[in-house]
Amino acid sequence: MTFEGGEGAGKSTQIKELANRIKGRGLEVVLTREPGGSDGAEILRHVLLSGAAEPFGSDFEVVLFAAARLDHMQQKIIPALQKGAVVLCDRFYDSTRAYQGGEGGVSAAFLSDLEILSVGKYQPDLTFILDIPPRVGLERVRARSGSEATPIDRFEKDDLVVHHDRRRAFLDIAAREPNRCVVIDATKPADLVAYEIWGRVSSLIDRNDRRSELANGESKASHRGEHRG
Ligand code: TYD
Repeated sequence: MTFEGGEGAGKSTQIKELANRIKGRGLEVVLTREPGGSDGAEILRHVLLSGAAEPFGSDFEVVLFAAARLDHMQQKIIPALQKGAVVLCDRFYDSTRAYQGGEGGVSAAFLSDLEILSVGKYQPDLTFILDIPPRVGLERVRARSGSEATPIDRFEKDDLVVHHDRRRAFLDIAAREPNRCVVIDATKPADLVAYEIWGRVSSLIDRNDRRSELANGESKASHRGEHRG
């Protein structure tokens, strides 16, 4: 599952809350983020968010995002999925589509090639798009970084109009992929947002539980069949 949205939408708070609820259902959870999440990707996170890669252009930056994602997939996400854990990722390829695609300057064809290279067949089961008007989100970011402890990064500093483009891009993705994406109004109080998210995730967990019960039932029945035969 992935969490997406503009700056200051409250993704990190929601993702932690959801991780606790999923653990409460007895499942293993791996909580991670992008850019970063693995040793190689964390190096590239620094290069990207510091603005060091910016002078080399958006194609250069997007290749670094893809390289970071490839390492993250290979080192962390795929091994976690293989051992049956639920992976919760703070930003994933929709951020690349919204930030680097469209007005970000990278062509859709180039983005799609990089997605295939870095992610391949692994797709999120659910993507929550926390939607917030950019002015409100950026206000939250500024309040958070008032102490200078978390300075505004390379992508947060862009003009308001750029943030509006990104918001539109996320909503367009959700409209194109309604089975995967759920848009959540992130201006609501955090506990209501968490409740809405949990509604979707708990029904997905219930569905998966029923599916594996059915599969177990069927395999027991076919075993009985074999003995009779
Ligand atoms: P981060 O500090 O993780 O903040 P947050 O997710 O809370 O906004 O910053 C990550 C920044 O990187 C964010 O501004 C979005 C940007 N980004 C991209 O431009 N493309 C990407 O593919 C990803 C994953 C992130």
